[in-house]
Amino acid sequence: MSPASAGVLVRAPGKINLALRVGPPDEDGYHPLATVFQAVSLHEDVLATPAAELSLAVTGRGADLVPTDGTNLALRAARLLQEHAGVTEGAHLEITKQVPVAGGMAGGSADAAATLLALEQLWQLGLERSELVELARQLGADVPFALTGQTAIGTGRGDVITPAMCRGSYHWVLAVQDTGLSTPEVFAAFDDDGGRLAEQPQLDDELIAALLDGDPLALARHLVNDLEAAALDLRPELGDVLAATERAGALGAVLSGSGPTVAALAVDAAHAESVAEVVRAAEVAGDVLVATAPVPGARVLEAVGDVA
Ligand code: C5P
Repeated sequence: MSPASAGVLVRAPGKINLALRVGPPDEDGYHPLATVFQAVSLHEDVLATPAAELSLAVTGRGADLVPTDGTNLALRAARLLQEHAGVTEGAHLEITKQVPVAGGMAGGSADAAATLLALEQLWQLGLERSELVELARQLGADVPFALTGQTAIGTGRGDVITPAMCRGSYHWVLAVQDTGLSTPEVFAAFDDDGGRLAEQPQLDDELIAALLDGDPLALARHLVNDLEAAALDLRPELGDVLAATERAGALGAVLSGSGPTVAALAVDAAHAESVAEVVRAAEVAGDVLVATAPVPGARVLEAVGDVA
């Protein structure tokens, strides 16, 4: 018999969108996207241990806001993997959160990606990576990126991932709100606004060039999010957050995904701390965090307590 581990710990990152261009909805109501994802150093840790049935416990930032019933994306990932691979055993999942809940940073998607990887290892399924990516796509548009991490371009519904060349390390200030925004509601507000006219959303070449050059000043000039106006309609106070990051001397700022988190770019780690302090003092956010990027996608940190 091959060795089995008593537990597998996997870490997956949250993300921000450096650019998010949105086209008109298709017949399923989904919008074609052209986006640049960057994985940031706020992580979700998922520890999977053997059990007869599937179960879940959640701790960390915003844990009390996370559903632990069958709607939880990590449990849905576990069930999808069970069905795909014909697995009859269960597992206990312990999620430790750092990524804000419903913040536009894909924390739930990171949980799902980490769960797929952890259970693939725990159950020793020997799946191809492409199979995990396909399962990830079925769970949600942001889940494949959580597997890939680093900096990447997302097309299709945001679920078709191409790694992007990116030099250097970026320092972000993340203004997080206590109350999240619902992604479908933000897309619906975007549609009500008339949305964008372009059938096929396009990324700006300048943004891609800035990443290639590792130039934070140029990157800051090209941060863009087509959902920003819709999110501001739903949550006008986000205008105060964007203004506060500008007053604090950030190079630029952008709404992440469907919000409400605002990501502001700083020159270096010390600058990020000073921007964060000023934004905190402005009392426009529930919390103000700093993070570096890019960081890797979902990865096994350790197989705990290997047994023969
Ligand atoms: O794929 P995911 O479950 O994360 O998407 C949540 C919701 O966001 C969808 O139900 C849809 O309303 C909206 N969405 C969209 N177009 C996309 C991605 C998400 O309209 N490309």
